[in-house]
Amino acid sequence: MGRIPSKMLNMKIRPARSLHGAIALPGDKSISHRVAMIAAMANGDTTIDNFATSADCTSTLSCLAALGVPLRRGENRVVVHGVGKRGFTAPAAPLDCGNSGTTMRLLAGILAGQSFESTLTGDESLLARPMRRIIGPLGEMGAITTSNEGKPPLTITGQNPLRSIDYTLPVASAQVKSCVLLAGLNADGETRVIEPTETRDHTERMLRWFGVNVRTRRTENGRRVTVAGTASLTARDVAVPADISSAAFFMAGAACLPGSDITMPGVGINPSRRGVLDVLRDLGANIEVSGAAEQCGEPVATLRIRGGLRKKQFLSPPILRGDIIANLIDEIPVLAVLGTQLSAGLVFRDAEELRFKETDRIAATAENLRRMGAEVTEFPDGLAVGPADLRGASIDSFGDHRIAMAFAMAGLLADGETEMTGADCADVSFPGFFEALELVRIERPA
Ligand code: S3P
Repeated sequence: MGRIPSKMLNMKIRPARSLHGAIALPGDKSISHRVAMIAAMANGDTTIDNFATSADCTSTLSCLAALGVPLRRGENRVVVHGVGKRGFTAPAAPLDCGNSGTTMRLLAGILAGQSFESTLTGDESLLARPMRRIIGPLGEMGAITTSNEGKPPLTITGQNPLRSIDYTLPVASAQVKSCVLLAGLNADGETRVIEPTETRDHTERMLRWFGVNVRTRRTENGRRVTVAGTASLTARDVAVPADISSAAFFMAGAACLPGSDITMPGVGINPSRRGVLDVLRDLGANIEVSGAAEQCGEPVATLRIRGGLRKKQFLSPPILRGDIIANLIDEIPVLAVLGTQLSAGLVFRDAEELRFKETDRIAATAENLRRMGAEVTEFPDGLAVGPADLRGASIDSFGDHRIAMAFAMAGLLADGETEMTGADCADVSFPGFFEALELVRIERPA
């Protein structure tokens, strides 16, 4: 791949023999968003170490600064001076969430409880994403949101206090759950969110770290999470675990390349996020988890992946569906790439939500895999990937960071060179991804 220009459009990826070495991953993107927002709502100063370098998390910090939250940022360290739950000030201009759905949906929950009007906007991709899922519950709580037919920009007229509600999530979404819970911190009673399918619980864990009594209970309708509007948040330093969603690309790539040996320290292995690890093991990947510890309420461990899929012979394609999908939703594109290396391929169902991400990830994954020679069947809620010897091709990131990184891995497995347009969008979650890959990539002999 050679030297990487700072703003590239096209990236050439050559086949690799294997991946070798240690990788320093960025801090977890989901957790970084939450710490920054929760620290802003707290009383006191919070120092956040290993804050995600991702462009998305920078969007969150810029929005908080525009809302009157004093912050200082070093490379991986951020100090947030909390303003308290209602201490935000009206922004002078629309808040630009960039490409980040998490910034928009979580911040909306905080803004719903402020006594001013504010507007949330973003890039072309974000302006096309569905927001009725948060407008509905925030409306029930008393905040008025205008939108462009359910899409951003969103103008929120907040209210304090909000009405507390019992809300059952119609789609499995940690962003919607978190939005309602953050709004619930400014409500007049107890707010309960019921999730029929469990989603990532970083908000619950981080609120507890800041001293909030978050109660969770399994009921016959799903997991119920309760917060009280009387809660107050106390600043407390945080070290963010490394991002398992970023680790996933290297886990899958190394698993597909025999002879690989990759180590990644300090990776978050939260049970609501580690689906990719468990599924890779089920598919025959050799993954060692060691040094498990708890870090600021989140489990972390060192992951070591040695190459080769021990169980790649299947008589029929394994099917991933049901509750596991929410747990590994962001990892499906790279798992689909790995599916081409299994004897019967791999099938994903119940993953309709993938169509509403930074791009339609079902269509983007299918398109790129086909260009690389795989047979793919698309369903409304998923895809079936056939076994294939991938060949180098001209492919597209579709402006989506996870598509870019998943298909960088596909390029390593292919015969011949792959050229990807728009590879720079990897910065949205993993600035330095291609440099990190170059450091561990062993050239395949011609
Ligand atoms: C996220 C939740 C998921 C995930 C996204 C990050 C979060 O989205 O796809 O990348 O940090 O809460 P949904 O809540 O829309 O499922």
